[in-house]
Amino acid sequence: MQERRIRADAIPGHVAIIMDGNGRWAERRGLDRIHGHRAGIESVRAAVRAAHELGVGVLTLYAFSTENWSRPKGEVDALMGLLEHYLEAEIDELHRNGIRLRAMGRLERLPEAARAKLDDAIARTRDNAEMTVVFALSYGGRTEIVDAARRLARDVEQGKLDAESIDEKTFASYLYEPEIPDPDLLIRTGGDARVSNFLLWQIAYSELHVTDVMWPDFRKSHLVDAIGEFQQRERRYGLTSEQVRIGTPRPGS
Ligand code: IPE
Ligand code: IPE
Ligand code: MG
Repeated sequence: MQERRIRADAIPGHVAIIMDGNGRWAERRGLDRIHGHRAGIESVRAAVRAAHELGVGVLTLYAFSTENWSRPKGEVDALMGLLEHYLEAEIDELHRNGIRLRAMGRLERLPEAARAKLDDAIARTRDNAEMTVVFALSYGGRTEIVDAARRLARDVEQGKLDAESIDEKTFASYLYEPEIPDPDLLIRTGGDARVSNFLLWQIAYSELHVTDVMWPDFRKSHLVDAIGEFQQRERRYGLTSEQVRIGTPRPGS
């Protein structure tokens, strides 16, 4: 297959992916949904490797939402088992490639064993600087905003912060990963053009790419396609094309 050509000087710094379609991929093959999740692990490997090769700085993967806790127990248990399996199998390669692993979400809800492996992987890779992979786990965008608001209110209450001085930057500094820049490109596989409670604050000006490819089929060529489309877009941030062409700074920057 001929690979699409993309410009190496305009690779999005942060790509976020809603990895959807595992269940349908399996059902179409007459398999249990869990087989779809298992196959999806190979796509996670491929996506991390491809993003690294292409020079993406941060890859955020939506692996499990707060709402996904309401799925049948067997499926939730299988997903938690796969998370452990992935961390065990991949941590050496991630570390060897200089990849820093992070996780965002209500991690205290994860089963003890998965949580322990995650904490280990995060600690072991903390000084790596080649690339960052963030797993959104037990993650909800609204929960993240509520958690931020609660901590912010506490700081106001304790006199550490003046309510009048709160601006977007202050608020963003209370989110789960304040040091990581907002996603430039948000990809959703599985064909549904919705956000499903992912990074609600951070995707205000992300470019969206929805593909019908089911997550277990996602490979480097699909990431390249998404980046190719991203490179065709003009990011105007509310300005006119003319303003963008003459280099007017982005509002709020
Ligand atoms: C995404 O695939 C994986 C998780 C949400 C954990 P799904 O399991 O949602 O697959 P579909 O959308 O039902 O096909
Ligand atoms: C979004 O997929 C969550 C993840 C990919 C982890 P869902 O399958 O849970 O989202 P909905 O139900 O289609 O909105
Ligand atoms: Mg789904």
